[in-house]
Amino acid sequence: MSNVERACAFLNEAQTYYLATAEGDQPRVRPFGTALVFEDRLYIQTGKVKDVSKQLAANPKAEICAFQGGKWIRIAGELINDDRREPKAAMLESHPSLKAMYSADDDNTQVLYFRNATATISSFTEAPEVFSF
Ligand SMILES: Cc1cc2nc3c(=O)[nH]c(=O)nc-3n(C[C@H](O)[C@H](O)[C@H](O)COP(=O)(O)O)c2cc1C
Repeated sequence: MSNVERACAFLNEAQTYYLATAEGDQPRVRPFGTALVFEDRLYIQTGKVKDVSKQLAANPKAEICAFQGGKWIRIAGELINDDRREPKAAMLESHPSLKAMYSADDDNTQVLYFRNATATISSFTEAPEVFSF
């Protein structure tokens, strides 16, 4: 499994992760669930109308945290907008429940991928594992 696949598998097993952004000097965090590897990149999905989307447009620095099976992952990097139809369609296919609210051709659906990502998997019993993608 590649580094990006490993990070995505962890997020999918956890089902819910927490996405932190910055709004000026104020951290913002919320639960997210979408994660997909597309073209060897880790993508997440949101709506352009959301505050989280506006925060990432102003400052792409972001961090994700999830806890699963006694381990936690942090992924720090930049989340970059990708307005192509293909990754949006792939995201909706991999998370069919999104189709009730989003389509690959609407003006709201947004997918973003991690750039310059560093993932750290930690536990109370083992040394942290750090990898990049
Ligand atoms: C378990 C869970 C998973 C969620 N996954 C997503 C997601 O993948 N993308 C998304 O845009 N919103 C998702 N949401 C909703 C966001 O948490 C919610 O819209 C949040 O308010 C967005 O942050 P903002 O208000 O700062 O824009 C999820 C909510 C829950 C409870």
